[in-house]
Amino acid sequence: VPKDPYSQPFLTPDYKSIKDTKVGHLKFPKGFKYGVASAAAQVEGAVKTDGRGPSIWDYVAHQYPSSIYDQSTPDIADNHYYLYEYDIARIKKMGVSTYSFSISWSRVLPLGRGEVNQKGLDFYDRFIDAIIDAGIEPVATLFHWDVPLALEYEYGSYRSERIVDDFVAYAEIAFKRWGHKVKSWVTHNEPGVFCPRYDSTLPLNATNPTQYDGHESRFRCTYHLLKAHGEAVSLYRSLKESGQVAKDGEIGIKLDNSYPLPYDSASPADVENAARAEAFNVGIWAEPIFGSGDWPKIIKEAVPSDLLISFTAKDKELIKGSADFFALDGYDIRITKSLPSPQYDSCKQNTSDPNWPICADGSKLAYSQSLKGGWTLGQQADPLAPWLYNSAGAIRWYGKKLKEMYPSKKYYLTEFGFAEPYESDKTEIHQIREDTARSQYMVDYLSEILLSIHEDNVPWAGIFAWSLLDNFEWYIGLRLRFGMQYVNFTDPSLPRTFKRSFIELRDFMNDHLE
Ligand code: NOJ
Repeated sequence: VPKDPYSQPFLTPDYKSIKDTKVGHLKFPKGFKYGVASAAAQVEGAVKTDGRGPSIWDYVAHQYPSSIYDQSTPDIADNHYYLYEYDIARIKKMGVSTYSFSISWSRVLPLGRGEVNQKGLDFYDRFIDAIIDAGIEPVATLFHWDVPLALEYEYGSYRSERIVDDFVAYAEIAFKRWGHKVKSWVTHNEPGVFCPRYDSTLPLNATNPTQYDGHESRFRCTYHLLKAHGEAVSLYRSLKESGQVAKDGEIGIKLDNSYPLPYDSASPADVENAARAEAFNVGIWAEPIFGSGDWPKIIKEAVPSDLLISFTAKDKELIKGSADFFALDGYDIRITKSLPSPQYDSCKQNTSDPNWPICADGSKLAYSQSLKGGWTLGQQADPLAPWLYNSAGAIRWYGKKLKEMYPSKKYYLTEFGFAEPYESDKTEIHQIREDTARSQYMVDYLSEILLSIHEDNVPWAGIFAWSLLDNFEWYIGLRLRFGMQYVNFTDPSLPRTFKRSFIELRDFMNDHLE
């Protein structure tokens, strides 16, 4: 266990708490989950320990090191595999009531299917017990992007229908083993980020060695993932019926991750672009599950029918209603704008407003979700513009929108978080701990959630901050820090230290929980 040299005291002498003025007296409803979130590939490390099989992320990082910004790998990450008890004790200290983590599929099934790895099961037994023993509620995600490499090689994972049976077999193992202890389950994390990675025409994927064949893979992945989700939920519900998992258990899917707004709401072109962007980001998943049971109309009109697989009546029955809650990973709002002379990209996010600080290095690591041919989202840098939530109250606006478009008994904000810019990377520990911008983001954001609950009657039932500690941020490696604890990756014992944002979050939740 690393020593935390900075834990006593962790507040600087001139520390001033951020006071929320707007929401002083408002409370979160009873039972509201105060959570933090992580994912196996980003925190666990121990990638060859106790029989774990490789995932596509081990492969990408080792075979194509230059595709990771700082050439780091998931090999060690936060060593959470070894340090989980310590990490759980630290989140407990911050008053956290719920911990959302993901299970590594290839730890349970090293080849993705077939032989089960007993030591992997034993690890998650210990891990889940430690969470529960600390008085924290576990929330488990079955798939957070770390496809077992064997399934990628064997049949292209989600590009093939074969994934459905293999995912369900894996889910069955997890449900039966932990379904009495874990009462909230998520089948997939942000499929809207995962599936487009298979689209070799997207600029981000120029460096993605798992890319395959144009747009086709993306839409095959979309269809198979929804089916795998639907089948797993149907299995979970039947296990619930027969008492093989907790009677009060729930299951859903985490949908990503930003909501496109029109730059100019009086401009029909901007409004149309925003609606199209929404359909590609969220609606393509949410409409089949929470809405009509079919693809959104915009998608059907935009995507050629040889690319978009039609649902059968049986598929629709399976997928419609296959979530007990709506889980939103909501980091930011993206503004879409029609271009004066559209070429391929018919709309563009405005990143030029000087009032929006760009947190991640948008210019160097431009994400794009554009699909050429006039039905595009357009070139997207990846700015986190959380201020927009405050200035425009956009999470409130979006909350209302969600309720209207995708009705659900409850909504979870399953991720929200803030990455600091590379440019202002701080080197002194006292500067690192004083993450005032992140603190402000947390407090402002949660104030908006409170208002959304009380003034707009949106039934938010929990929030999960990303993340409890700095971790492996996929293609950006260890370079981009989302943590409310700083991790010193240059020290082999990986010491963690609380940042101000975690203290602010704790204080805010203390003040506003029933
Ligand atoms: C959402 C993803 O689920 C998570 O893995 C990622 O680290 C955060 N966004 C931040 O980019």
